[in-house]
Amino acid sequence: MRNRRAALAVIGGAVSLALTLSACGGETSESSSSERGTIGIAMPTQASERWLTDGKSVVENLQGKGYKTKLVYGEDDPDTQVSQIEKLIKQGIDALIIAAIDNKSLNGVLQQAAAADIPVISYDRLILGTKNVDYYVSFDNEQVGRLQALHIIDELGLEDGKGPFNIELFAGSPDDNNTKYFYEGAMHLLQPYLDNKQLVVRSGQTALKEITTLRWDGPTAEKRMNRVLSQSYGSENVDAVLSPYDGISLGILSALKSDGYGSGSKPLPIITGQDAELASVKSIIAGEQSQTVYKDLRQLAERAAFMADDILNDDTPELNNRRAYGNGVKSVPAYLLQPVSVDKTNYDKILVGGGYYTDAELK
Ligand code: GAL
Repeated sequence: MRNRRAALAVIGGAVSLALTLSACGGETSESSSSERGTIGIAMPTQASERWLTDGKSVVENLQGKGYKTKLVYGEDDPDTQVSQIEKLIKQGIDALIIAAIDNKSLNGVLQQAAAADIPVISYDRLILGTKNVDYYVSFDNEQVGRLQALHIIDELGLEDGKGPFNIELFAGSPDDNNTKYFYEGAMHLLQPYLDNKQLVVRSGQTALKEITTLRWDGPTAEKRMNRVLSQSYGSENVDAVLSPYDGISLGILSALKSDGYGSGSKPLPIITGQDAELASVKSIIAGEQSQTVYKDLRQLAERAAFMADDILNDDTPELNNRRAYGNGVKSVPAYLLQPVSVDKTNYDKILVGGGYYTDAELK
């Protein structure tokens, strides 16, 4: 335990901040934020709206608790993220909150964090292959996949025996641990319909390794959808696309539109998504993308800030995971939030009613 953390553990909270000030002879020049410490926040990319919201919300929550913050974005380059975290460690931070770009690339730099006694919270994406990660805060990621599958099952009437329908499957980045949870959650519900041929994947690409999208990149998904359409769909139409993330959904939509979908005898297929990003919610309202999975990032950020605060006060953070999250080296204690399926029928109630977007933003 470093002295700073030991001291923070003793003072913990606003009441003891006053005690500390009086113990220091009433000196008030040191702001409460410098008493509380500085927290480094490493986010993956500014290219996606959701991570901008995450970064901003984590900073607001921590500053509200009196911490200083240093927020960096790795622009989806694992090496950049590693050097950014190295720099934060050298600058002398008290805790790290990290949403990894490549979940296996952080072993070395987290060794440096451990040597400097800096606790690490794995934010949204579980960091793998290292003992130097203390807590994990995320959503129930298998449930995200289940919600996407349920939307497809409901919209196509699969439970009523309708079909056969053509479906294509997309997954997230292979270096993101969430990818397999989303895929497994969705496939658990879709597999029976693939087995009984109510759902047919004309491309034949159903294994996770065949359908991933490096760095969740929309244009990469667009290219794959173009290929699938030209190689596997002649006179047939695709009826549904399992997409794990809004940026990917918009790439798929763009490929479909350039192939003539969305007009005449070629209606757009059911297309799922995730993150309730503004462009996708607008697309849902316009009747193009059909669904997204909303994860209230304000809650995620708040939870991460609570965790950091508890760790630095030597309190045990509140946890709610029903199972241990193995990262290949250790079981990481976790707090998981619940995702919500959003489509045309409930976006207003959930997103506007919940204060996530204003009416004006969705116009
Ligand atoms: C995942 C995250 C998703 C989505 C995706 C692309 O790790 O859980 O919500 O944001 O990354 O950024």
